[in-house]
Amino acid sequence: MHTVAVLSLKGGVGKTTVALGLASAALRRGARTLVADLDPQGNATATLNPPMTTSSLTAVLDTPREAVIADALAPSGWSPELDVLVSSEDLELLNEPGPDGRRLDNLARALEALRARGHGARGQGDRPYEVAILDCPPSLGRLTRSALLAADTALLVTEPTMYAVSGAERAFEAIEAVRQGPNPRLQSAGVLVNRMRPRSYEHHYRVEELRQTFGRAVMPTAIPDRLAVQQAQGACLPIHEWKSPGAHEIGLTFNMVLAKILRSSRAGRHRLPGEPDDPSAQPDSA
Ligand SMILES: Nc1ncnc2c1ncn2[C@@H]1O[C@H](COP(=O)(O)OP(=O)(O)O)[C@@H](O)[C@H]1O
Ligand SMILES: [Mg+2]
Repeated sequence: MHTVAVLSLKGGVGKTTVALGLASAALRRGARTLVADLDPQGNATATLNPPMTTSSLTAVLDTPREAVIADALAPSGWSPELDVLVSSEDLELLNEPGPDGRRLDNLARALEALRARGHGARGQGDRPYEVAILDCPPSLGRLTRSALLAADTALLVTEPTMYAVSGAERAFEAIEAVRQGPNPRLQSAGVLVNRMRPRSYEHHYRVEELRQTFGRAVMPTAIPDRLAVQQAQGACLPIHEWKSPGAHEIGLTFNMVLAKILRSSRAGRHRLPGEPDDPSAQPDSA
């Protein structure tokens, strides 16, 4: 299972859009996928439209045991191949600074328990997750740090604005602190620019500024600003299923971003089930 944390310094820049776009691309690839919604606002949960659960990630982060996880996990409305660990408003309480360092690694424990269990919300016979996407809240607080502790790859999202460079600098520092400390396997997938308007001089200027500061860590393709993103989200549909030229363009961009992320980590390289050397491959039980 390859775990990707999608983060940024602030809200409204497109973390959830990117997390959902990557989930949509993973489904296109045929990968069994999990989205963990760490944002108390629960936008990813709302768009993934799972049935009501009796619990949420808040309980999982308190007690990362299998029975607790099962109550917070649901199949998404998008596809039986995509499950959600659902958010709730009280997650916010866990974001506050506190002396309890133990809780920070409970997300990693929960994902490890899911990995060991080998099946998702549909129970026995389910394929194990190949991709897990962690949608972070709009800060570099405790919830985002717990995602970085649990992740193989961190992806920074930014808009091409005046504060993009300083915001990305702080986020890179947070990633580096976790990598040097509790999670040495964490890799940065770099900065993904979202809501790019190709005809805006300002946007090109800001992307250039990011490239001068971070070089190749800036992803070569930006996500364009397209109404289709909001339309697909409003309809609770994956972007790859929204039929418009804008959605098609964005879908292709997410395919590329996901491929780059999965390639970037040799150790956790994504293989489709049944491919040679796939340690998680199981005999076809269907
Ligand atoms: N590339 C895009 N094109 C058009 N609208 C976008 C794009 N990315 C994000 N949005 C819209 O901007 C708003 C904030 O995006 P969201 O992904 O929820 O940000 P975050 O998770 O960082 O708070 C949402 O209404 C979303 O639909
Ligand atoms: Mg969000």
